[in-house]
Amino acid sequence: MPARDTRLWSIDTPNTSYVVTVDEHDRLRGLHWGPRLSPEQALALLDLPESPFRPVVGREPRFDLGAGSAFQYGHNGVQVRFADGTRDLELVFAEAIEEEGDLTFVFTDRHYPLEVRTRYRSHPGTDVIERTLALRNTGTEQIEVVRADSATWVVPGLDTPRLSQLHGEWGAETQLTRTTIPHGETVIGSRRGITSHQANPWVVIDDGAATETSGPVWSTALAWSGTWRITVEKGPTGSVVVSVGFGHDPIAIRLGGGETLETPIAAGLHTAGGFASAASAWHDYALAHVLPHPEEVRPILYNSWEATEFDFTAEDQMRLADRAAAMGCELFVMDDGWFGARVNDRAGLGDWTPNPDRFPDGLGPLIKHVHGNGMRFGIWVEPEMVNPDSDLYRAHPDWVYHQPHRRRSEVRQQLVLNLARPDVADYIHARLDELLSENEIDFVKWDMNRPFTEAGWPGSDDPDRLWFDHTRNLYAILDRLRADHPALRIESCSSGGGRVDFGMLRRTDQVWISDNTDAVDRIAIQDGFAQVYPARVMGAWVTDSPNPLTRREVPLDFRFHVAMAGVLAVGGDLRIWSDEDQARGAELVSDYKRIRPAVQLGRRQPLRAGAVTGVQYDRGDQTVVLVWRKARSFAYPDPLLKLHGLDPDARYRDGRTGRVHHGAILATHGLELGLDPADYASAMIELTRLP
Ligand code: DGJ
Repeated sequence: MPARDTRLWSIDTPNTSYVVTVDEHDRLRGLHWGPRLSPEQALALLDLPESPFRPVVGREPRFDLGAGSAFQYGHNGVQVRFADGTRDLELVFAEAIEEEGDLTFVFTDRHYPLEVRTRYRSHPGTDVIERTLALRNTGTEQIEVVRADSATWVVPGLDTPRLSQLHGEWGAETQLTRTTIPHGETVIGSRRGITSHQANPWVVIDDGAATETSGPVWSTALAWSGTWRITVEKGPTGSVVVSVGFGHDPIAIRLGGGETLETPIAAGLHTAGGFASAASAWHDYALAHVLPHPEEVRPILYNSWEATEFDFTAEDQMRLADRAAAMGCELFVMDDGWFGARVNDRAGLGDWTPNPDRFPDGLGPLIKHVHGNGMRFGIWVEPEMVNPDSDLYRAHPDWVYHQPHRRRSEVRQQLVLNLARPDVADYIHARLDELLSENEIDFVKWDMNRPFTEAGWPGSDDPDRLWFDHTRNLYAILDRLRADHPALRIESCSSGGGRVDFGMLRRTDQVWISDNTDAVDRIAIQDGFAQVYPARVMGAWVTDSPNPLTRREVPLDFRFHVAMAGVLAVGGDLRIWSDEDQARGAELVSDYKRIRPAVQLGRRQPLRAGAVTGVQYDRGDQTVVLVWRKARSFAYPDPLLKLHGLDPDARYRDGRTGRVHHGAILATHGLELGLDPADYASAMIELTRLP
C-alpha cells in the first residue's frame, strides 16, 4: 500500500504490517512491524515524535537500509569502499516498484556508480516477509563490498527485550536459550564455511514476557548455508535492530564493473501468540514456500552407519536390508564406506566409484536386492571433500582450499575441495550425475564433515569470493541434479546438523539433525530444531541401546516415541536386535505410518506437565500426542497433560482406551496419560475428533 506523496509503504500479510518510509534524507526507515494496520492507521505513524539527537524511548532513528547516515555509530548493514578509498554510501531514492507481492526500493549513490535495490516479498497465507538486497556496480572501477546484510529489521520499542537463539556443537545441536539482550551489539554467526553446529541463523526477539502460547514475538531466519552473521543491537533506550546477512568479518567481495551482488533471503516474521505459534508459522512457511516437495510425506528410512560404520560387505548390507524391510522400512540408505579405497576414514574420499572388493559387480546387485524388498535405495556421498590419499587428490592437489606457504589442516584426514572454482564444481557435478545415471539411486545423503580452514584460493584476484561461491555452486549442483533426476530425493547432513537452514531446505527433502541419537538428548535437540524447522524434514533414527555415543540405556519404546516426533528412521544394528525387539519395532513402525501425516504435515505444539514433556500434532480430525518422562521424583504421580488448540465444544476419542473426552476438559484440566511409573516411560496417544 503506497501512500502517495508521503513516501510511506506498508507490506501487509494476513495478520501483520511492516511499514516503511523514505525520509527527507532518502533513508529507508522502519516505522512499524506488528499487528496489521489500516492505511489510515499506517499514515498516523508519520505523526509520532522522533528526533535523532534526543530520542524518545523506543523511537531512535531506525534504518531498514543501514547505510548513509553520518551519525550511525552502530552496526551498518551495507558497507562498501569505492576505488578511491571513499567509504559508505550516500543514497538517493530513485523509485519504488510494486509487482505481485514484491515491493522493491531502488536507490543510487549520490556520487559513485552503485545502485542498491532492496526487495520485500510477501506470499499469500503467511506472515513471513522475505527481504533481499542487490548491489550493482554501474561503473567500471571495482567496488569493495564489506558488508551486505539481506535485511535490517526494526523491532518496536520493548521494555526488557529478550533474545532466543539456537546454539550448540557437534552432538548437541540446536540448543535453545533465551537471554535478556545486553546494551550494544550481540553477534552470532559462523566463520566455518557452513551454517555450523555452533549457531543456527535464526533468532527471536520478545519483550521478556512471551510464553509458548502468548505474547508478541519477532523472528528472523537467513536462507544461507555458508558463513553468516546476525547482529542484534540494543540502543540506549531499549530499541532493537536485527541485521541479518551472509559472509563474516573481515572478508569482503570485489564487485567489478557491471556486476551485481545478490544476497540470500532473510525472512522476517511477527506473530502475536507466543513462541509456539511463531514456530508453527515458520513450519507453514517452509511447507508452502521453501521445500521442493512439501506435499510428500517422507518414507521411513533405514541407515546402515551406526550398524556397520566402515566395516561391511555387500552381503552385510543385504542382510540389514532384509531386516529393515521386515520391520516396515521404506527406504534403505547405505552410508559411508562403499567407494574407492574407503574402508576407513583415511582414504578414498573423492573417488566416487564402488569399492572393487566390496562391490565386484558394482552397486547393481545390492540395489536390485533392496528394490526387490520393496524399498527405495539411497546412498551416502560427501562430494565437497577429498582425502589426500585418493586418486582425485593425487591428480589435482591444487583443487583444495589452501594458502601458499601455509599448512593445510586436516580434519578427519580430509581437505575441502575448492567448489568455488567452476572447473571443480563442474567435475563434482559430472561425477554425481554419472553415479545417478548409471545406478537406480532414489535418494542421496549429502554429507559435509569438516569446516573450512586456511581457506585460500591461490591465483585468484578475489579469493574471499570462495566464501560465497562455494555455497552458490553447491546450490547450483543440487539444483541441476534435481532437475535432471526429478525422482531423486536428497538429505542434507553435515556431521549431523552442521548445515541446516532455509537455503539448504529449498533444495533438499530432509536433514540429519545430529549424530547424537540418544533419545534423551534428542528431546532437547529436536525441540530447538522445531523452533523454526518443520517435523517434515527432521530425520530421527532409532538406534541401539546402550547408545554408541552416550552409553545410556533407554527402552525401545522410548527411543521410538522420541523419533516418531519427526521423520522416523531406524539406524540400529538390526543383525543383533532380538526377535522381540524386531517384532515390537515393526509394530511401532506401523503405528507411525498411521500418525505420519499429522506429524509431518500437521501443526505442532510443545507440551509439558511436571516431569513429562511431549509434543502434540494436529491435522484435520487427528490429534497425536507423543510424551516422554525420563524419571519421576518422590513417586509423585504424573499430572494430567493439558492439550492445546482443541475445539472446546468438540469431543475426542482416545484410541488407546476408547474413552471420549471433551475438548474443554482436555484444554483446562488435561488428559490422563497412564504412563508406566518406571523410568523412561513414554506413549503415543491418538485422539480423533468425533463428528
Ligand atoms: C557424519 C554423519 O553425520 C553420519 O551420519 C555418517 O554419515 C558419517 N558422517 C559417515 O562418515
